[in-house]
Amino acid sequence: MSDATSPVPVFEVVGLRAAPAEDPDREILRGVDLRVLPGEVHAVMGPNGSGKSTLANTLMGSPEYVVTDGSVRFRGEDVTSWGPDERGRAGIFLAFQYPQEVPGVPVRQFLRQALSERKGIELSVLEIRIAIMEWMERLGMDPAFADRFLNDGFSGGEKKRNEILQMAILEPEVAILDETDSGLDIDALRVVADGVNAVRADRADLGVVVITHYQRLLEYLAPDVVHVLVDGRIVADGGPDLARRLEREGFDAWRNAS
Ligand SMILES: Nc1ncnc2c1ncn2[C@@H]1O[C@H](COP(=O)(O)OP(=O)(O)O)[C@@H](O)[C@H]1O
Ligand SMILES: [Mg+2]
Repeated sequence: MSDATSPVPVFEVVGLRAAPAEDPDREILRGVDLRVLPGEVHAVMGPNGSGKSTLANTLMGSPEYVVTDGSVRFRGEDVTSWGPDERGRAGIFLAFQYPQEVPGVPVRQFLRQALSERKGIELSVLEIRIAIMEWMERLGMDPAFADRFLNDGFSGGEKKRNEILQMAILEPEVAILDETDSGLDIDALRVVADGVNAVRADRADLGVVVITHYQRLLEYLAPDVVHVLVDGRIVADGGPDLARRLEREGFDAWRNAS
């Protein structure tokens, strides 16, 4: 419930705990709370192995993990038991840390299928072509890209661009971006930040959860709220000043707190 003065969060995570489906006694997430209001950018920052990708995948409803406690709410609705397809159709988008290669399926065809599923309507080849061309231009992408096979031989930067293109085309309500912990150069970080900013410019209510190891990204993508994830727990929340403190001190100051 909410009153007129407080907007319904686009995405809310309450006391989330999760474990691998294969090993439900081994909790990886041990208490995660996030409250993303429309238009907000949240950064979840944590060291390697802290549970960042587990969080991203659990928020998307991956069958690889089971929620052992807590809930995930999307625009006020409890979606904890929803599968990834249902979440995707509803408007939850996840950019993967390691996007899958799909040889034989061109980017264009993949996007058309994904968008048809998201909207529940068949789109003409022409409609999707126009939407893709428009966004590729805005994102500074070579039009030939749309004809390449999905992620097949893409560089790290190209994979990121492609994830951002997917996000732009699918018009989600909330976008979760799981960033690579290594091998993402400054250009690729800029691609992500510029892309997210471009999509936000169009969709003022878009909620964004950027999950990253990198303080660097936050120079280009100003978060409203920063959360620190250590050993599967959010151990601190704050504003951009918290990201700066992380930059100076690293994660060590919080390791013992968990
Ligand atoms: N499906 C899984 N089964 C068993 N252990 C897992 C699984 N997924 C993640 N883990 C473990 O959980 C911890 C957190 O992993 P991960 O979420 O990938 O961390 P991060 O993305 O922050 O580097 C690691 O110790 C990892 O080995
Ligand atoms: Mg990860």
